[in-house]
Amino acid sequence: MRTTTLGTTGPRTSALGLGCMGMSALYGDADRAESLATIHAALEAGVTLLDTGDFYGMGHNELLINEALRTAPAAHREQALTSVKFGALRTVEGGFTGYDGRPNAVKNFAAYSLQRLGTDHIDIYRIARVDPDVPIEETVGAIAELVEAGHVRHIGLSEVGAETLRRAAAVAPISDLQIEYSLITRGIEAEILPTARELGIGITAYGVLSRGLISGHFTRDRKLAANDFRGMSPRFQGENLDRNLDLVDALRKIAQQKGVTVAQTAIAWVSAQGEDIVPLVGARTRERLNESLGALDVTLDAADLSAIAEAVPADAAAGERYPAQQMAHLDSER
Ligand SMILES: NC(=O)c1ccc[n+]([C@@H]2O[C@H](COP(=O)([O-])OP(=O)(O)OC[C@H]3O[C@@H](n4cnc5c(N)ncnc54)[C@H](OP(=O)(O)O)[C@@H]3O)[C@@H](O)[C@H]2O)c1
Repeated sequence: MRTTTLGTTGPRTSALGLGCMGMSALYGDADRAESLATIHAALEAGVTLLDTGDFYGMGHNELLINEALRTAPAAHREQALTSVKFGALRTVEGGFTGYDGRPNAVKNFAAYSLQRLGTDHIDIYRIARVDPDVPIEETVGAIAELVEAGHVRHIGLSEVGAETLRRAAAVAPISDLQIEYSLITRGIEAEILPTARELGIGITAYGVLSRGLISGHFTRDRKLAANDFRGMSPRFQGENLDRNLDLVDALRKIAQQKGVTVAQTAIAWVSAQGEDIVPLVGARTRERLNESLGALDVTLDAADLSAIAEAVPADAAAGERYPAQQMAHLDSER
């Protein structure tokens, strides 16, 4: 497995991370046994970075990772890195009511996460969305205290813009920014990515398959469960979906010429944007994981990249990446 360092101060990690969210939430039901087998297969293949959030299934995802680590061979468990997001406030019914980045809340969230994960430290800890009522300096300062106490190893950020990156980095070393980045989500290229590079902050890219939309497996007639995020996502609706799947068809021609899959091409494209970018793939079955791992063997040369740029121009996606009320929480979109 290829490895890379997250930013100038972050940990050494596999060049591909496993995002575990879909094993507990957002994309309809997942199979628990298959989820565990997928995490084990990822560790076996040398994937070390496991991404989660305490609010993914309201603790379910951390407990799943706990079980996967407990039942994995010691060597795999020891090399695993946990990347945990916190801060989201939930209702009993599963609704989201805001974010809490107050220092005492940060430490409270961390205490519960450590219990659920069954580990003595979290490798990378980050607030999922900036709390608009708490300066980022205070939230990051609280994580820095957790680092000092040995409960957390590195500080990350999620979906923040360039100015917040600078403010946070002035408080403590930041290992990586977790943010959506894919062939059809290119917003970070103008200002956020150059700023992260200037500050020595790595990128852990999520949504590299745009939540399955550009995986090559999503079809116009796919029925989504009522609790599937994609049922509300603008990119998956009506005409937007048609236009976005036309882009996938154009990408498929390039993938076929190279003898690889659409998903592998989309993941390899993100990897090709720089060694400082680690794609987090949302595989929740071993089959999808194996396909994703195959992307590490795909090399895109200049001709491939220009063919891809022509097939999927930077601003070609139809529809925003989140529904309007969720866009409003994105510091990265201000
Ligand atoms: N910081 C943030 O704000 C934030 C937001 C969202 C996610 N994340 C993190 O990033 C991770 C990845 O995000 P994501 O799940 O939205 O990303 P993604 O990899 O773009 O999408 C995952 C979806 O793609 C489908 N898919 C099709 N082919 C696949 C393949 N070969 N490999 C993997 N998935 C394939 C899966 O399909 P099936 O339907 O067949 O399972 C799944 O529904 C999450 O697990 C989470 O840890 C962070």
